[in-house]
Amino acid sequence: MNCPQGPIGVFDSGYGGLTILSKIRELLPQYNYIYLGDNARTPYGTRSFEVVYQFTLEAVRKLFELGCPLVILACNTASAKALRSIQQRDLPHLAPSNRVLGVIRPTVEAIGEMTRSRHVGVLATAGTILSGSYPLEIKKLYPDVRVTGMACPMWVPLVENQEYASEGADYFVRKYIDDLLAQDPLIDTLILGCTHYPLLIDKIRRFTPPGIRLVAQGEYVAASLKDYLRRHPEIRTRCTVGGDCRFLTTESEAKFRESASIFLRQQVEVTSIVLE
Ligand code: DGL
Repeated sequence: MNCPQGPIGVFDSGYGGLTILSKIRELLPQYNYIYLGDNARTPYGTRSFEVVYQFTLEAVRKLFELGCPLVILACNTASAKALRSIQQRDLPHLAPSNRVLGVIRPTVEAIGEMTRSRHVGVLATAGTILSGSYPLEIKKLYPDVRVTGMACPMWVPLVENQEYASEGADYFVRKYIDDLLAQDPLIDTLILGCTHYPLLIDKIRRFTPPGIRLVAQGEYVAASLKDYLRRHPEIRTRCTVGGDCRFLTTESEAKFRESASIFLRQQVEVTSIVLE
């Protein structure tokens, strides 16, 4: 079997996955990475299961072509709607020795220790909430935890349009949090179930009552990846080292460069590609 070596692939519908990539690179700086943002087709959060699956599969296929032995779907919507199908249906014939991992399971694993009230809230895209993935995964690990989800369809556009720090964003940040806590006032742990949301964290914190813990995913995904690589030497030894990171986008290079610098607080070189 052909088992090539290459960088770790990190995929998101847009820029949100950069919040995950940063945390992964902080913890595992030795590896090489390719980040792929499907910025031309973002957001995924409002798209159907079939479309998210198709777009995500195209991205995974591209990252495999570029030599990635391991791809992280740094997007909750893609993890919720496409991960299982890709793992079960596509991997066996596409690249049986490669692996694709998501961001939901590592986040869910972390919350069991955090919640005292056993009431957890999930803020995410409509796609992730409608998929039911968070309640499903949480029930598997912690059957005693009650989960309430709230779709926040305005939050990704606020971030993608660089309005996340504006006063205008306050209304929508507060609204979804209030609506969620009205449904379950006993929530003590709030999962930010979308990789874009860390950019709104200052506002989210401002409108969340004290005593409620906010869970941003980056550090948990990074820790889980580190553990995964420790447990899977057959994948780890295929991940090349050197600390490089390449950026690919389906949008224009200039647009990606400008927006990515806000997420990463540094300028990056990027190449535009077509997914099909
Ligand atoms: N960053 C994606 C996620 O974590 C959502 C962005 C989108 O809607 O495309 O769900």
